[in-house]
Amino acid sequence: MSAGPAAPEGAPLIIAIDGPAAAGKGTLARRLAAHLGLPYLDTGLLYRATGRLVLDTGADPRDPAAAEAAALALAPADLDRPGLRTPEAALAASAVAAVPAVRAALLAFQRNFGRQRGAVLDGRDIGTVVFPDAQVKLFITASPEARARRRWLELQAAGTAVDLAQVEAETRQRDAQDAARAVAPMKPAPDAVLLDTTALDAEAVFAAALAQLRARQG
Ligand code: DC
Repeated sequence: MSAGPAAPEGAPLIIAIDGPAAAGKGTLARRLAAHLGLPYLDTGLLYRATGRLVLDTGADPRDPAAAEAAALALAPADLDRPGLRTPEAALAASAVAAVPAVRAALLAFQRNFGRQRGAVLDGRDIGTVVFPDAQVKLFITASPEARARRRWLELQAAGTAVDLAQVEAETRQRDAQDAARAVAPMKPAPDAVLLDTTALDAEAVFAAALAQLRARQG
């Protein structure tokens, strides 16, 4: 695992986990956080909750003014509401995430969360923008087919009946949008370690990440 460019000596440990949808970021991040005793933040939830708030008002999540107003109005309870894991919320999240003022409004919360006791954060721009000086950066990928299948299985387990082909199309659409936006696009930090989880189960991904962490800590 590569060193970040400039984490001050003695700074709390930040582990940045980025990558496209359903690559296994959340499972890995939660597990690493529990193992290391660090707080965990699913930053996608901030964008999903913002997108949900815009949908509630009947506005278009691509509307910059509506999206910014929702991000500024976001309250902690909004992160606990049901319906944030639906495909509709995911697409709304990706739309509001392309609005620069939304990203600016959510940045301070993410940085404050990590600065207190250190943290594991997963998202799209943690290693590039939120914590460019994170000591540990991983970029998790998998083939689009494998990722769509995982998301489809998750949705099935949650009782949401959806078509696999539709999940794959939406996943590809979201990834393209997240990678192409002008501000904080999804991309690996130059010093991130890439991990392809297509052929790995959660246990193997965790083992690979721990091996990187140990190598990093000498
Ligand atoms: O990780 P997720 O699938 O819950 O994220 C939902 C959307 O939020 C994703 O398509 C793009 C956006 N997002 C982002 O732009 N930056 C982040 N750090 C996390 C999520």
